[in-house]
Amino acid sequence: MARARAEIPASTGSLYFQTGGIGPSPEPVIDHVRERLAFQNESPAEPRIATEMARIEPDLRAQLGRVFGAETEEVALTHSTSEGISIVAWSLNWQPGDEVVISNTEHPANVIPWYVLRDRFGIVIREIDLSTGTGLIDEVRGQLSDRTRMVSISHVSRNNGRTVRTDESAELGALLRSRGVRYHLDGAQGPGCVPTDFRALGCDCYSTCGHKWLLGPKGTGALFVRRELLDDVRLSWAGSHSHATMDYEGAYTLLPSAARYEFGTRALADFAGFARAVEWMEEIGLARIEERIQSLVDHATEAVDGTDGLGVSSPRTPPDRSGVFVLQLPEGCDATELYNDLRDGDGILASPVRQPRDFRLSIHFFNTRDEIDAAIDAIAARCG
Ligand SMILES: Cc1ncc(COP(=O)(O)O)c(C=O)c1O
Repeated sequence: MARARAEIPASTGSLYFQTGGIGPSPEPVIDHVRERLAFQNESPAEPRIATEMARIEPDLRAQLGRVFGAETEEVALTHSTSEGISIVAWSLNWQPGDEVVISNTEHPANVIPWYVLRDRFGIVIREIDLSTGTGLIDEVRGQLSDRTRMVSISHVSRNNGRTVRTDESAELGALLRSRGVRYHLDGAQGPGCVPTDFRALGCDCYSTCGHKWLLGPKGTGALFVRRELLDDVRLSWAGSHSHATMDYEGAYTLLPSAARYEFGTRALADFAGFARAVEWMEEIGLARIEERIQSLVDHATEAVDGTDGLGVSSPRTPPDRSGVFVLQLPEGCDATELYNDLRDGDGILASPVRQPRDFRLSIHFFNTRDEIDAAIDAIAARCG
């Protein structure tokens, strides 16, 4: 722990409870990006250099597949979770009246694309209640109709930390497959925070990023698409490198893998940093990291339970809960004001969320019990 913290500059500069917003990279990641960028720019067109840089993306796809339960061919490298969500949202030929099911705990990244599709194609957005304690499968069943074409919800909610458990996700996946409905998980808050196995989750598509719980470079992400659906998850934007073959007479074939969703010249040094970040997390052990997060959340729960006026809004027990720990503030305490005051007055970085009295501490393995106590004391003091 001491070694890991020593390598994360942001962990010493402030009380960093904002990994769910943006994760702080450790020095080996920062150094690797710097080194790869310098190497590339010794002469980017030089074949010796270009060939070495060209290994970064295939290696990263294979690594992400191995670590998060996908085949290499099912992994596309993106720049954010939002990019993956948009690729999936635009992958159907939407007709007026077609329906998508989302939830009431989504990030704007999993809302705005649906608003845009509603306004362009007349699709209908239905919403399930994924507040803490509701039944996922019943909620979805209640919104399915013969016009439902997609269900798109968060694996881990940014607003209440609720985690779609792997077993219930698999059950939902089987239900949706039997109805011919596509199932997408927004996994921005998943990998590096909770156990994440794409195949075991039973979803068709999974969008995630490198720049939150995996502590990678900002502007890195991945989209997993089940191999058997590659031709059905259609491309709405494409370009050079999406293709396997082409001519100038109108013929082309797409890459046979999810790399077809990528195109153009890309920030290879950042993707190298993403790979280094996952490797760094694996050196510590993802299971150990997830366990430590849960034990820190236990500590936070006890501390909040012992503090007058504060409550816990996020799920109280694993595997429904995550490192996204959400407190309920006393009446009259404004979460946005609190966020500003904690940052400016106490050097604590945390976050307001959608519910005005909910307040989020993103608790990663590098946080300490003392930091959690200090944050909860500061919140209690500021909320009277
Ligand atoms: C659940 C969820 N989805 C999507 C996003 C957007 O992530 P990105 O910046 O990688 O697009 C976030 C960011 O906080 C999030 O919490």
